[in-house]
Amino acid sequence: MFDVLPQLPADPILGLSTAFKADTNPHKIDLGVGVYKDEQGHTPILTSVAKAQTILLGKEDSKTYITPQGVQGYIDGMLELMLGKGNPVLLADRIAAVQAPGGCGALRILAELIKRCDENTTVWVSDPTWANHIPLIGNAGLKLETYPYFDKSNASINFDAMADCLGKVKKGDIVLLHGCCHNPTGADLSKEQWQVVLELAQKTGFIPFVDTAYQGFGDGLEEDAYGMRLLVNNLPEVLIAASCSKNFGLYRERVGVAVMVTENTKTRQAIQTQIQSIARGIYSMPPSYGGALVDIILNDEALKAEWMAEVEGMRSRMQDLRALLVAKMNEYGATKDFEFVKKQKGMFSFLCITPEQVQAVRDQHSVYFVGSSRVNIAGISKTNVDALAKALVSVL
Ligand code: LMR
Repeated sequence: MFDVLPQLPADPILGLSTAFKADTNPHKIDLGVGVYKDEQGHTPILTSVAKAQTILLGKEDSKTYITPQGVQGYIDGMLELMLGKGNPVLLADRIAAVQAPGGCGALRILAELIKRCDENTTVWVSDPTWANHIPLIGNAGLKLETYPYFDKSNASINFDAMADCLGKVKKGDIVLLHGCCHNPTGADLSKEQWQVVLELAQKTGFIPFVDTAYQGFGDGLEEDAYGMRLLVNNLPEVLIAASCSKNFGLYRERVGVAVMVTENTKTRQAIQTQIQSIARGIYSMPPSYGGALVDIILNDEALKAEWMAEVEGMRSRMQDLRALLVAKMNEYGATKDFEFVKKQKGMFSFLCITPEQVQAVRDQHSVYFVGSSRVNIAGISKTNVDALAKALVSVL
C-alpha cells in the first residue's frame, strides 16, 4: 500500500546540511541552517547550560513521567522572561501554557488549538516567512494566507502594504508575527509599527500569534520582547510559541513553550485542559531534560546572569559580523549597496540577491545558504569572511 507515496525533495533548509557535508571543497562555507556558531564554526554548549547539566545530574533521582504541562519552574521562568516580571496578565491568571517539544511543537499545538475552536480559521503569515511555518500550521488543516511584509527591491519592510492588508482581515482570523529577528529577512517592526499592529488587531478583531525563537539576538532580551508584551498587555487573546533552541543553544533537546493568553481565568482553565489534551493526543507529554536545564538557569540568579551575558556575547558577535561582511563586500568592489545588512537583526539576513546568484555562489564557491538569499550570519567568521565576500561579489 505504501508504494503509492513518492520520494520527496530535500527540506529547503535542513537539506542544505546534507549537501554541505557531501561537498569535498576544503574551503566550503555553511550559512544554511539557523544554528549559532563560534569563530571556529562550532556550535558550543553554553557554559551556563553545562553548569546546569552538572547540577541536574547531581539532583535528578528519577526518570518517571513528568506532569502533562511540563516542568512548572521552566514554564514560569519562560513566562517571566517573555512577558516581564510582575506582568499584570500573568498576575491576573489569564495564561495557559504547556512545555512543548521545541518551538515547532508549540506552533503545532497552537495550530491544533485554533482548529478545535474553528476549523475554518484563516492564519495569515508574512511574505516571506520561515519555510516550516507552512507545514506546521497548514498540516493541522488550517487555511493559510500571506500578508505583504518585505520588499526585496529596497531591502526593507513594506509596512504600508502590510498594514493595509491586516486592516482588512476578518474578526477571529489569526495573524502570525515574528516576535523579533524575523526569519528569514532579519527585518523587524519598529515600536511605532508594533503600535499600529496592535491598533489594527483592536479594530478588526484578529488574534496575534507570536512566534518568538530569537529573544536576545536582536537588540537584547528585554528590547526584543517589546512587541509581544505590547500585544499581550493590551489584547484579550494572544497566542505565543517560544523556543529555547537558539538563545539557550538547546537545539537537540527540543524545548519550547506553547502559550495562550485568554480573556479570563475561566477560559484559561478550559484552554489549559485543551492544550494538554492536544499534546496527549500527539506525543503524550514533553521530554523533561531541556526544560529542567532552563528551569535551573532561570531560577538561579548567578546562573541566569551568566546565561544573559552569554546571550549578549552571541548577539554582539553577530552584529560585528554583519558590519565585517558589509565592509569586506565594499572592499572587494560590490556593485550593490549592502548597508541594510547592518540594520537587520538576529541570526539571519536576506541578501536580496536572485536564486540564480545563490545557486552560482554554491556551484562555483561552495557557499551554502537558502535559495531565498537568507544567510546565517553566525556562520561567518574572521577566517572565512574574505573568501565569502569575494565569492558573493563575483556573482553579483
Ligand atoms: C532555521 O530556520 O534554519 C532553523 O530554525 C532550523 C529549522 O528547523 O529550519
